[in-house]
Amino acid sequence: MWEKKPLLLIALATAAILVGTTITMVLPFAWVNTETDRIASVTPYTPLQQEGRDIYIREGCNNCHTQTIRPLVTEVLRYGDYSKSGEFVYDRPFLWGSKRTGPDLARIGGKYPDAWHYKHMDSPRSMVPKSNMYDYAWLRKSTLDPVMSERKMKVLGFPYTQEQLAQLKGKNELDAVVAYLQKLGSDIAWRKAAEVTIVGELKNPYPDTAHRSMEEWEVIYSEHCAACHGGHLEGEIGPHLDGANYTDEELFSLIFNGIPDGGMPAFSSLGTNKVWKITNFVKYYVQGEDHP
Ligand code: HEC
Ligand code: HEC
Repeated sequence: MWEKKPLLLIALATAAILVGTTITMVLPFAWVNTETDRIASVTPYTPLQQEGRDIYIREGCNNCHTQTIRPLVTEVLRYGDYSKSGEFVYDRPFLWGSKRTGPDLARIGGKYPDAWHYKHMDSPRSMVPKSNMYDYAWLRKSTLDPVMSERKMKVLGFPYTQEQLAQLKGKNELDAVVAYLQKLGSDIAWRKAAEVTIVGELKNPYPDTAHRSMEEWEVIYSEHCAACHGGHLEGEIGPHLDGANYTDEELFSLIFNGIPDGGMPAFSSLGTNKVWKITNFVKYYVQGEDHP
């Protein structure tokens, strides 16, 4: 019957929409950047990181990578702690993005050592064989210009000291991008907090490992570990691995949780079964033996 009273219908519809708008838009805008929203440990970008951010925008990295993790179980398991609004106070413009041709980068900081990033940017396929990301080795060829940076900082009103600006000397664009990537999402100490205590007894499901063929496990190792630890555990970006140094349980937990801020990523997302397979491979691989 309301539809026969257009004015009343308009008034009621407007009211209904306004309630939604207020709750989902107006209030959050009012809350943003208030004291409760700030996170004390979030610091501004250094000049080098800021230059890296500008190059990231110039190269359109944000066309393939988002920088925001939604509070959904699948995203948190894959990428890490969900993004907090207080983490973006120095991001102007923000780079949340909407297209994930590549993975989200909001928590990339500290996930890998610098050396991994240099190799990956030089040639993504050297670290991730099926990657379709472009090579960015040429960024090494352009050195940064501290004078330009200083001008930019003045326009933007960033309070950088001469000392900080001096750190740009001799650095190239790739250094800047890597410095920027290592900063992303690392201002809050979420990695340690994300460590999982596995409930129940940790029990190796493949107890007779020493006597079986490890072909299948070697494939999993090659896919996830070889880029950093070498095809034969000999070490590369990460250290040489010697299974004799660990008990099964220690090794499993180490691979499952990674080494927070040590550049050793967590592999919990592979699931316990795969992590056990890798654990056994590392533990019982014998250098020099014939591995089919
Ligand atoms: C054409 C799309 C595309 C563009 C453009 C692109 N990437 Fe990627 N990126 C990918 C894909 C796909 C992956 C996943 C495979 C891999 O790791 O190489 C990836 C992976 C990454 C990773 C590793 C993420 C992880 O968690 O392992 C980083 C870091 C990264 N990209 C940085 C950059 C930067 C910096 C730029 C801009 C200079 C850039 N990407 C441009 C597609 C892209
Ligand atoms: C992005 C590079 C990278 C990848 C990929 C990686 N690691 Fe690591 N790993 C490291 C680094 C760096 C360290 C040293 C960390 C530290 O000691 O702070 C490390 C340490 C370790 C250690 C401890 C070694 C020691 O002597 O302390 C083990 C065991 C290990 N990794 C196993 C693995 C396994 C198994 C995989 C594959 C599932 C893997 N890692 C994948 C970089 C990587």
